[in-house]
Order: sequence, then C-alpha cells, then structure tokens
Amino acid sequence: MNYQNLLNEFNGNLQKIIVQITGELQLETFLQEMIDYQIKQGGKRFRPLLMIEVGKVFHCEPQLMNYLAATVEIIHNASLVHDDIQDYDAKRRGAIAAWKYFSRPQAINLGDVLMILALELIYKSTANEIDQLQLVKLVTRAIKELINGQVLDIEKKNSCYLTMDEYDKIIYGKTGSLFRLVFAIIADFAPTKARNEDLMQEEMLQLGTFVGRIFQIRDDIIDFTGKKEGRKIHQDIEHGRVSILKALAYKYASPETRDWFESISECNKRNPENIKKLVEIYKKLDVMRLATEIIQQEKTKINNLSLMKNNRELSKTIGGFFEFLDI
Ligand code: IPE
Ligand code: IPE
Ligand code: MG
Ligand code: MG
Repeated sequence: MNYQNLLNEFNGNLQKIIVQITGELQLETFLQEMIDYQIKQGGKRFRPLLMIEVGKVFHCEPQLMNYLAATVEIIHNASLVHDDIQDYDAKRRGAIAAWKYFSRPQAINLGDVLMILALELIYKSTANEIDQLQLVKLVTRAIKELINGQVLDIEKKNSCYLTMDEYDKIIYGKTGSLFRLVFAIIADFAPTKARNEDLMQEEMLQLGTFVGRIFQIRDDIIDFTGKKEGRKIHQDIEHGRVSILKALAYKYASPETRDWFESISECNKRNPENIKKLVEIYKKLDVMRLATEIIQQEKTKINNLSLMKNNRELSKTIGGFFEFLDI
C-alpha cells in the first residue's frame, strides 16, 4: 500500500467534491473561506483512506465510496473544529486552529456548516432514496455517538479519577463512532455476494471499535512522546485531559499517589512543578508500556475476528494501515 499516493488521489477528489457542493449551496464567501482553510490543513485522512481501501476489498462501488469517504472526513473535520474550541487548543495539524485564526463564534458556524455539508454529500453519493435514508441513519447515529463521547470527555476533564471503563466509554464515542461508521457503511453497501451476512454486520462494527480504540490510544501516547504535529509535549497532562495514560496511572497508583492526584485536580494546581511530578509518576508506573500492550491486545482481538481470518485481503489491508501508524 502506498499511503502517499492514496492520500494525493483522495485530496484531489475531496477538493473537487467540496468546490462542487459549496457552489451549489450558495454559502457566504466567509464560510467558503473558512471551509477552505480547514480542509487545506490536510491531516492523515486515515478514516477516508481506510474506507476506500476496505471498500475495494468488499467490491463496493468506487464512486459511492469516494463520496462517502469525503462525508466521513468532513464530519471528522467538523468535530475537530469544535473539539479545539472545547479543548482550548490553539494548534491543529501544525497550523493555527480555526477558532484562533478566525474567531470562536465563526468557528462554531464552520463546524455546523461542515456537518450539514456531510449530510448534503449523502444525497450526492447515490440517487437511490432508500440507500440515502439508510446512510442518513448511519451518519446521524455516528454523530450522536461522537457527541456522547465528547460530552463525557469534557465532563471528565480535570478530574484525576478516571477508570479504564470510563476511558473506554469515552473513546467508544468520541473516536470509535467514525471508525464504526466507516465499517458499517461498507457492511451495508457491499454487493450481496461479497458479504457473509450475519457475521459481517456484527464483526464489522467490532472491527470499527477496535481500530478506533487503537487509534485513540496511539494518539494519547503521542502526547507523552511529543510527536504530535505542532503541539507541545505533555499537553494532555497540562490541561488535565482524558487519556489512557491518566486512566492507567490512576489504576496502578498507590493510595497516597491517588490522594495527591486528587489534591491537584483543579486547573490552577497544575503548575510546572506538579506537571513535572506527574510525568515522573507516569514514567515510574510505566504507563507507556502498559498502553502499548493494550494496543497489542486490541490487535490480537482484531486478528481473532472470523471476518479477518476468512479474508486474507482484508487482513492485509488493515495490516497496511497499522504499518502506516507504526504500531
Ligand atoms: C485526531 O484525529 C483526533 C483523534 C481522534 C485522535 P486524527 O489523528 O485522524 O487527525 P488528522 O485528521 O490526521 O489531523
Ligand atoms: C478528538 O479527541 C476527538 C474528536 C474530535 C471527536 P482529542 O481531543 O483527544 O484529540 P486531539 O488531541 O485534539 O486531536
Ligand atoms: Mg482535542
Ligand atoms: Mg477533545
């Protein structure tokens, strides 16, 4: 799999689709400018490329996949625009986050219009009204799950008390939602002969959940290693954000350390000295290794799905995406 080639091809398609749809919708020039700014910042395009490649494995119609991959990427971008406001994050993809570049109120409009663009794209993807309705159902379910996850994520911000179950529920929503959407669409729109009906529906959703979990855990680890594009290291710790490292630290800390976590729960207690101490505790508890082990366990769960065992092409494709993520 040549990720860069796939990326270039998708970016070209996405650009065309956005120009077409924003023209038709007669959006205000400023909205178009903001959309352009957000989409041109790029990103890995991991979800749409996954959709296109897994779609090929199941012989889905390429034109349909192109539109729906754009749909998923646009919802993802909408969520990032709002997420940066919610997280007070001034940087995104190495550039200035939309709310910081334009303004907070206008970035709310940007996030809103991107969600609507995604719905409009569904009508463009197919003329079949039954299919459109099914796609609207899948997309609205995913957006609902994503928002559920974001609500819990924000609720848990600053809290030192984060169990692994709570963490899992949060990322099931905020990250798993769009990955499940990718696989659910493929499960529904693969030609009948490519499906193994009952098993497929269920296992495709599980696959989405597992891939989403791996993706988010890797992202949480990156905050600790300082490799997130354009962001400072240990931002999650500094801002008290939900992260697997926080959940693992809470799980394995001694009662005294847990008490100390609690004592610094409020924002103003997270000063440079306390952040340094938290980093030391995380290192001592070896939460990075534990998180990496969880990724490996999730990979094993994926490999044990009969869907993967019975489909070498699928297993190779998913493997290629993990290679790209370096996991
Ligand atoms: C960031 O998603 C938010 C998470 C769920 C971790 P991505 O890592 O896919 O962001 P881009 O699109 O590549 O920038
Ligand atoms: C982003 O989660 C998830 C969504 C946008 C729904 P995070 O807040 O953990 O991701 P980053 O670190 O800002 O990319
Ligand atoms: Mg964020
Ligand atoms: Mg967030």
